[in-house]
Amino acid sequence: MIHPVIMAGGTGSRLWPMSRQLNPKQFLKLTDGPLSMLQATVARLDGMDAKEPLLICNEEHRFLAAEQMRQAGKEQADIILEPCGRNTAPAIALAALQLVERSSEANPLMLVLAADHLIQDTKAFQDGVKKAIPLAQAGSLVTFGIVPQHPETGYGYIHRGNELAMNCFTVDSFVEKPDLDTAKAYLTSGDYLWNSGMFLFSAQDYLNELEAHRPDILAACKTAMSGASQDLHFTRVDADAFAQCPSDSVDFAVMEKTDKAAVVSLDAGWSDIGSWSALWDVSEKDEAGNCLSGDVITHDTRNTLVRADSRLVATVGVDNLVIIETKDALLVAHRDRVQDVKNIVEKIRDDG
Ligand code: GDD
Ligand code: MG
Repeated sequence: MIHPVIMAGGTGSRLWPMSRQLNPKQFLKLTDGPLSMLQATVARLDGMDAKEPLLICNEEHRFLAAEQMRQAGKEQADIILEPCGRNTAPAIALAALQLVERSSEANPLMLVLAADHLIQDTKAFQDGVKKAIPLAQAGSLVTFGIVPQHPETGYGYIHRGNELAMNCFTVDSFVEKPDLDTAKAYLTSGDYLWNSGMFLFSAQDYLNELEAHRPDILAACKTAMSGASQDLHFTRVDADAFAQCPSDSVDFAVMEKTDKAAVVSLDAGWSDIGSWSALWDVSEKDEAGNCLSGDVITHDTRNTLVRADSRLVATVGVDNLVIIETKDALLVAHRDRVQDVKNIVEKIRDDG
């Protein structure tokens, strides 16, 4: 049986002003329907042969996380709290250490999921996970790969190798966030997949690979976990020890370096909704290409995303804009420039 581990410690800064430090992307409802991104991640596991999900997030978000898990019918789920963000390699290590310690299984498999992805085809996602199970049981660190649609520089790329079974490949190399020219070359070659940032591996295999490639991270996580305190379903890791842990992503720390990587390709309508234009891409649009929510009136407006949270927003004679209105902040950006929204967030932080 697999153990879902949901990483929910990101900041989602490119989705400002909706995504805020105290209420980041994974806890928001971004697409149609009643569920937040985290709750949709939990719901996507329904019907699978899986244990209760284990959530790992920042201490600051404990009440929000617990309340959303309760609403999703998962009040029994364990939540590991990080006192500070150290990126995904340490987060997964903490979860792996907890699983190895608590699971009655000899070799628990962990399905590592990001709390902030959109997956439109749940069945295809679940089928992909099932396909990955024998590979992970045999010792592979499986990543889920997406056929690239455009030369995205915000994703990691996987150069796939030999086909092991249908849609399952060895990994020749793993390249985290290439530059635009490299991404274009990868797209035309047809031999590359996007790294979805979701993984299936045995907890012990991950810890072994981390030991081989980043023993400093593993050592810090072990100390932080051995000093952890338990508070109902919360596991609070030792703050001083975790502060000493180097920060690195699973992609750099392990996936780029290991020779045990395998990839299962997934055609499941996946998107990481990293920016407002990515949300526009996946949303239903009217005949003018507009995607509008809240109290919005448009005239002669095309290919524009408008979200009005607290008052009426009206647009006249505009094209390709993103307009996000909230109670205390308003974003107006060209749809081609939305990646730069994170610069605004940095400025606010610096000034604040
Ligand atoms: N618990 C915890 N702690 N979770 C974290 C932390 C942390 O310190 N940092 C990030 N996360 C969570 C985020 O909430 C998100 O769900 C997931 O881990 C991935 O982190 P991102 O910060 O969003 O990574 P990314 O988007 O830049 O890149 C990763 O995902 C891409 C696909 O979305 C990489 O794996 C890329 O290779 C991949 O293409
Ligand atoms: Mg992301």
